[in-house]
Amino acid sequence: MQNFISLAQIDEIAQKIRNQISIQPIVGITLGSGLNDLADSVQKAIHVPYSDLPNFPVSTVQGHVGRFVIGELEGKPVLVMQGRVHFYEGYTMGQVTLPVRVMQRLGIQNFFVTNAAGGVNPDFVPGDVMLITDQLNIAGMAGMTPLMGPNLDEIGPRFPDMSRPYDYEYGDLAGKVARENGITLREGVYVGLSGPSFESPADLRFLRMAGADAVGMSTVPEVIVARHGNMRVLGLSGISNKANLDGSTMTTHEEVIEAGKVITPKIETIIRGVLRSL
Ligand code: HPA
Repeated sequence: MQNFISLAQIDEIAQKIRNQISIQPIVGITLGSGLNDLADSVQKAIHVPYSDLPNFPVSTVQGHVGRFVIGELEGKPVLVMQGRVHFYEGYTMGQVTLPVRVMQRLGIQNFFVTNAAGGVNPDFVPGDVMLITDQLNIAGMAGMTPLMGPNLDEIGPRFPDMSRPYDYEYGDLAGKVARENGITLREGVYVGLSGPSFESPADLRFLRMAGADAVGMSTVPEVIVARHGNMRVLGLSGISNKANLDGSTMTTHEEVIEAGKVITPKIETIIRGVLRSL
């Protein structure tokens, strides 16, 4: 596949999906590692496996299913990504963010994104959910960023604003839903690294000093692309482990998947509540 994905390639995928659905989704939802179950409660669901779509990246990671689920949640038309691909799988930033481009060409203006993350903030405990209020694009600062290459002028400007990556109103709504349901909702800055190795204690102390509250291997490129196309973004991190700032504990993928079982119902409640008020 060529380095840059053209609008024609994006539109070909969007058209294939459009041909299979009779609704206009208003929210695109991306589910993170171990957080896939929400897709199973979509009503009147149509499933489109990523492998049926031309040039569409397919996840190689355990805990990621690999299909679009299109239907209704809380009566609202949604397109859910059950599984996503990551940069560390060897995909380009363009491939990693292709699903968000497809959402945009399907006319979807809202992007709800979830991920599993390590808690860098020492107050966070595994099982917590964090509302992402801002993000640190460390991979981007090192040149790995999805908007590299020709700009897709039909979607957004060459130099998109990032002063407000995460929508304030959706953040407030998520907070309200969490309070009403007795869920403690943490808030903070998500930092996206490329992975796949987890962070060293020195990495984590550096990230903490830089203002990070949670660390993961996704979301940041997708949110940049979402904002490039002016989508409104809600971001939720499931804190699956305490990041290991002093080297006293180890982090494993199994732990991330296990914590997802506690986190999924909380994230589902919040997303359903926000959807209800749209
Ligand atoms: N670091 C990076 N990514 C992660 C972590 C972590 O500790 N936990 C879940 N995803």
